[in-house]
Parts: sequence; structure tokens; C-alpha cells
Amino acid sequence: MSFILTIVGARPQFVKAAVVSHALHSRGINEQIIHTGQHYDYEMSTVFWEELGIPAPASNLEVGSGTHGTQTGFMLTKLEQYILDLKKKPAALLVYGDTNSTLAGALVASKLHIPIVHIEAGLRSFNREMPEEINRVVTDHISSFLFCSSQPSVEQLAKEGITENVFNVGDVMYDALLRFSEIAESKISLNSIIPFLEEQYYLATVHRPVNTDSDTNLDAILEAFAGLDKPVVWPVHPRNKKKLTDKKIPVNLHLIEPASYHQMMILLKNSYKVITDSGGLQKEAYWMKKQCITIREQTEWTETLEGEWNILTGADASHIIYASQQTPSTKWTPLYGDGKASQKIAEQLQQAFTF
Ligand code: UD1
Repeated sequence: MSFILTIVGARPQFVKAAVVSHALHSRGINEQIIHTGQHYDYEMSTVFWEELGIPAPASNLEVGSGTHGTQTGFMLTKLEQYILDLKKKPAALLVYGDTNSTLAGALVASKLHIPIVHIEAGLRSFNREMPEEINRVVTDHISSFLFCSSQPSVEQLAKEGITENVFNVGDVMYDALLRFSEIAESKISLNSIIPFLEEQYYLATVHRPVNTDSDTNLDAILEAFAGLDKPVVWPVHPRNKKKLTDKKIPVNLHLIEPASYHQMMILLKNSYKVITDSGGLQKEAYWMKKQCITIREQTEWTETLEGEWNILTGADASHIIYASQQTPSTKWTPLYGDGKASQKIAEQLQQAFTF
């Protein structure tokens, strides 16, 4: 019997895999999951698998951290060997988003002539200095099945000459949010995450190298947080812990450990507004009807900018503070599908391959 080989490695991919794996299984499609080991801390990896009930990976390649070349290179070597050792070639190899794990999975599959399924295809920031942009462009151009979160992504792929097997199914992260936010509420209280805070707060996450590896940008972000009218709660990605130890932390800024998906749902639901440079959180803020301030110069999720539901500020203190004083100017309308993206993907794959 044939199967889908899914490659995941970084936090947001675990969330996406949770709903897609569930949809594949409910259609009787066999799947094997490989964890590259790109994220390996308990808070960055294990807790997601436990909370979201993701089927255990068939293998963890344990590549860990490193420069882009080292990390991706290790993944290529180990993943290729893993596939060559399999008794049966997978029908397709499935990757999510734009991380180094996505790129490695796609490259290995293309050399072994295994069709690639890319979920979250066609997104562009048009900033090629971001590693994610390179990862997603390359992956799209070697994929056989491309599932997009919205119509502009379909159109972008068409502009790049990719028109076959492109489907606008909506965003699987919306499926995940709908599926897990109520479960989260029944399991976790806000007080258990931030017992020291009773007022309204901004929920912040900052982890992009453009912000965290530049003292100018990180200083500007901290200056902005200090100037906000409410406390700021920031679950800190491990890549930033060291960077922040040298900095003066404003009194209204509360640094906490990385949040699990359930904890993030609760933090988001109870927040006043969101300030982030993450891609996924911009959408999650929108779906939870929270205004988002995106501390980047571009966003891939341009639809969220409509009516100032999402405001791009870059790492500029006065822009961030100004944005925090705005309110959305349009009524909230649904974006990125109907919460059934994973089912639509499973249906297409069932039609395309024999399992
Ligand atoms: C990666 C993705 C990014 C995604 C993010 C989600 C790439 C190029 N980037 O960024 O698109 O938004 O994941 O979180 O793939 N570290 C730990 N423990 C861990 C994981 C990382 O300490 O479990 C630290 C290490 O110091 C490591 C650094 O974080 O060097 C960066 O990790 P890496 O996976 O390379 O990139 P992210 O910044 O997490």
C-alpha cells in the first residue's frame, strides 16, 4: 500500500500537520511523518505533538540548529538516505510553508522523482533577503500539487507560469484554530499562563532575524513597547533569549517562556491587540478579530491589511505606537477559507493518487 510522506520540522508546521494528518486518516490515506528535528526543545516541539495529538513521527532526523547551509545540508543527506532505505517509494512527499525543512523535503523529493505536495503555496513577501522567501519560491517551482490559502496566491503562481494542479482551498491554520481553540479553553486558564497580570495586554512575538539580529531594530521595538499604554506579554523564542539578556527590559514588558499552541490560543483570545513579526500569528489575530501590528516592512498576508486590521510598521518605535492607537475601519469579514482546507486537500490527494 502506498502512502504520503510528510516532512515537518518547525513549530508552525506541527500545527498544520495536526489537522491535515487527521483529514488524511479520516479518508483512509496512509501517511508517514518525518520530523527533521529543526525545532527540538520541549517548548518548541514535543509539547505541540502532545497537545495536538499528531501521530508519532516515523523518524526524527535530529538535525538541530546551525547555519542555513549546515542545517539544510544535514536534512538533505539524512532525508535522502531515509527514503532510499524505504521498501516502497511514497506516492508523494508533502511539505508545509517556507522553512528550511520545507526546502530540504522538496529538494530531496524532486531528485528522487517523487511528486511534491506544497501546502501554503504561492505566498510571496517579494523580499528575497528573507530565507523563507527563497524556500517558498523554490518549493513552489518544483511542486506537483500546490494548495493555496487564497486567490491572490493562485494568481501569483500563474504569473510565475505555474497553473497545473493549483487549488485554492483556504488555510489549514484556520482549521486548526477552529478545532483547538475551544479545547484549549476547556483545559487552560489565562491565569495559569500569566498569573501576575490582570489588566488588558498586548500579545507580542518577535523572532525574525531582521528584527532580532539587528540591535537597531531590537532597540526600537523595546522602545516602542516601553511607550505603549498597556503591558506587553512576549513569549520568547529561544533564538532571542540571549539577545535580550543584554537589553534593558521595560517595566511593562513581561517575558515568558515559549507558549504551547493551547496557551497561545488563550493568550490571543484574551489579548487587547497583537504585535508580531510572525506570519501565522498575523492570521490568527485576524481570525480572533484582534487588530495586529506587524513589525515588518512587508507581509505575505496582504488581505489582512484591509481596513487596518493589520498595520505594517517595520521596526519603528513611533510607527508602532501610532498604530497601537488606531482601530479597524471596516467590518470583519472571513478570510482564508471556511475552516475545511484540510478536508479539501485530503479529497484532492485521494483523487490524484492510488493509496
Ligand atoms: C524557523 C523558520 C521560520 C518560522 C519559525 C517558527 C526557517 C528558515 N525559519 O525559524 O520561518 O517562522 O521557525 O518558529 O526555517 N532554537 C532553539 N531550540 C529550538 C529551535 C531553535 O534553541 O527548538 C534556537 C537556536 O538557537 C537556533 C535558532 O533558535 O539556532 C533558530 O532556529 P531555526 O529553526 O533555525 O529558525 P527559527 O528562527 O526558529
